[in-house]
Amino acid sequence: MRYMIDTANIEEIKDIIEFFPIEGVTTNPTLVSKEKMDFKTLVTGIRDVIGPDRVFFVQLRGDTAEEMIEEARALKKLIGDNYVAKIPMGRAGLKAVMTLSKEMPCCVTAICSRQQAMLAARAGASFVAPYVNRLDNIGAGGVEIACDIAGMLDHYGLPCEVVGASFKNVDQVQECAMGGCHVVTLKAEMFDMLASHPLTDSGIAGFDKDWKAFYGENKILDLLK
Ligand code: E4P
Repeated sequence: MRYMIDTANIEEIKDIIEFFPIEGVTTNPTLVSKEKMDFKTLVTGIRDVIGPDRVFFVQLRGDTAEEMIEEARALKKLIGDNYVAKIPMGRAGLKAVMTLSKEMPCCVTAICSRQQAMLAARAGASFVAPYVNRLDNIGAGGVEIACDIAGMLDHYGLPCEVVGASFKNVDQVQECAMGGCHVVTLKAEMFDMLASHPLTDSGIAGFDKDWKAFYGENKILDLLK
């Protein structure tokens, strides 16, 4: 399973990509508007920070397929390679994917059921983004839906990957990993939640204490001089 970060905050992105193996950035209209910045400046700023090789998902806002297609072409021109058109699920979205998927990778988002994902994949989406926590919050089994979708896409040999989205805890991420989700996109604070463990902290503190008891404040390079 691969990791992406779900934010439009440039400082968060800079911090997380420095310390974690991040394949790309996903955004949505809520995350983008939270930054209260000129849209074009924000989008190009994120591209500059993540470099040309990481994937960058920007969600379309058009009401019709035609509007979405125009938006996606303009964003691709601005962002360049590795732009992924993020398209809300629905009739207009599916129609847009059937055209756009011939020109760029598309991610159909706000996926809340297995059949929405199947339709999106058949339309040509490279990614589908099921909303794990939002479904879990209403007792609808978000983790199970995301994992079923991953299994279904693999079963039919469809070239479409699950980007599990909307996570709030480590168990949800781990269960999605075990269930075959290809990618997860996580809020910045979740990376430290995944990386930390109290036994890791106490183990490392023990190494530090034992080392200092004999070598004091010397580091390895001091001792190799
Ligand atoms: C993904 O496509 C969405 O941008 C996002 O993950 C939704 O997350 P939220 O439920 O935390 O808002």
